[in-house]
Amino acid sequence: MAEGMDVAAGPAEPAWWQRGVVYQVYPRSFQDSNGDGVGDLRGIVQRLDYLQWLGVDAVWISPFYPSPMRDFGYDVTDHQAVDRVYGSLVDFDRIVAEAHARGIRVIVDYIPNHTSDGHPWFVASRAARHNRKRDWYVWRDPAPGGGPPNNWRSAFGGSAWEWDEPTGQYYLHTFLREQPDLNWRNPAVELEMLDVLRFWLGRGADGVRVDAIQVVMKDAEFRDNPPNPDYREGIDDPYDALLRVHSADRPEIHGLIARMRELVEQYGDRVLIGEIYNEVDRLMAYYGEGGRGVHFPYNFQLIKLPWDARTIDAAVRRYESLLPPGAWPNWVLGNHDRHRVASRVGAAQARVAAMLLFTLRGTPTLYYGDEIGMHDVEIPPDRVQDPWEKNLPGRGLGRDPERTPMQWSAEPAAGFTTGEPWLPVAPDFAANNVLAQRADPASMLSLHRALMDLRRREPALHVGGWAPVDADGPVLAYLRTHGDTRFLVALNLSAEPASLDFDGGGEVVLGTLPDGEARRVGGGAIELRGDEGVIVRLDGR
Ligand code: GLC
Repeated sequence: MAEGMDVAAGPAEPAWWQRGVVYQVYPRSFQDSNGDGVGDLRGIVQRLDYLQWLGVDAVWISPFYPSPMRDFGYDVTDHQAVDRVYGSLVDFDRIVAEAHARGIRVIVDYIPNHTSDGHPWFVASRAARHNRKRDWYVWRDPAPGGGPPNNWRSAFGGSAWEWDEPTGQYYLHTFLREQPDLNWRNPAVELEMLDVLRFWLGRGADGVRVDAIQVVMKDAEFRDNPPNPDYREGIDDPYDALLRVHSADRPEIHGLIARMRELVEQYGDRVLIGEIYNEVDRLMAYYGEGGRGVHFPYNFQLIKLPWDARTIDAAVRRYESLLPPGAWPNWVLGNHDRHRVASRVGAAQARVAAMLLFTLRGTPTLYYGDEIGMHDVEIPPDRVQDPWEKNLPGRGLGRDPERTPMQWSAEPAAGFTTGEPWLPVAPDFAANNVLAQRADPASMLSLHRALMDLRRREPALHVGGWAPVDADGPVLAYLRTHGDTRFLVALNLSAEPASLDFDGGGEVVLGTLPDGEARRVGGGAIELRGDEGVIVRLDGR
């Protein structure tokens, strides 16, 4: 084994969002309190005891604002209210109070790029060319020869431009046509939308996750995007046919993010997280000059990369080496937009993936249900909800499979609702649920709880240094260190036995396999069984 140098150490006084674990709740699917089949804010309150027991430090709640639900809440008609299906502002205040009483922070979703086409601002904007709100959205004349103003595409399929016959112009929509993009070059939009941040922070939100932050600013000249030379027609998502150099990741975004950061900091110890799907080197700019950007841009590599030890090892090393000084890392295994980790890597490897998530350096974000190994659920065509699947059916782009109801118990509808759930419950819910797994020390849930507990107890794991360890084949290994404490994490990303050359010795404090703990390892090599990951406390030097 060749031990690398400590390439990265943690801050002396870590903030809560550095020490802690974030848990993402998709509110439609977490807990229904009134039997309408859709989860709600009171349901979240009912489950806070569970989240406290599990050991998470913060809960990020996906949008619950009034919305026609074309994109299930990412199409907002009022940024400062709660949709009736989810409850009321009183319920939100209760979440904050009850979460805080349990030591859990609350992060809300903030959607700056677009509104619903039903938002009063857009209704005014499209009413007439001379309307005072016209310039709050992005309106353009047709191209000289007719047709859309440029070649930009919508993330959900088709052109990003929608023709508005009555006023004779196109409006821009990076996502659905029911989600028109706001024009942030208009100072009135910025003023109004920054007030939205003040509203939620003032109400006690501990942070915001900023939706689609890299598309908020567009090229001032609306130039065509160039073709993507690597695009495979008929195989890849049509959105990727063009390189989005003029419609996303513009340098102009960073000034705006700095102003958001400044505002957030006026409220004290709050966090600003950016949702950015981009190459890792492009992510780094979002930390901002002098650290004036987001506290961290979400790092989705573990979602996107093939489940291969050498690939992930290289990605972790590269990410760590690219982080600007003082920039805080983070890792994500799943969210409401991507297939479930248990379906991507399989149930046995999902346990290894959990160990990876909670032992890498930086804030982990856990998607609801991943802690019990929920997998994608096949959705019958007549129950499809997601507009992406409706626009581009059969390509595996639909997001319903990873948004199915949380499996709490073996009761009907898994204890999620007393009514008909908005999406089908996974067929295996009677065996695979929180209640059953709580009682089983070998369960995925028990593993998650043990991982979070160890991470909380050991500074080496929540703020400590990280260093790569050379390994071969399916083994991924690294060190986490703090003072004299050193942990070796060794993960076998395959179902076959594998070994890691290792001179030192230590004791396994946690393993992904039920009987893997409390054994001594080392003295030349560490033998790992198939699907085994271990956290080894190394002997003192
Ligand atoms: C983000 C959200 C996704 C949504 C899109 C448009 O990517 O995570 O769910 O559809 O933005 O708001």
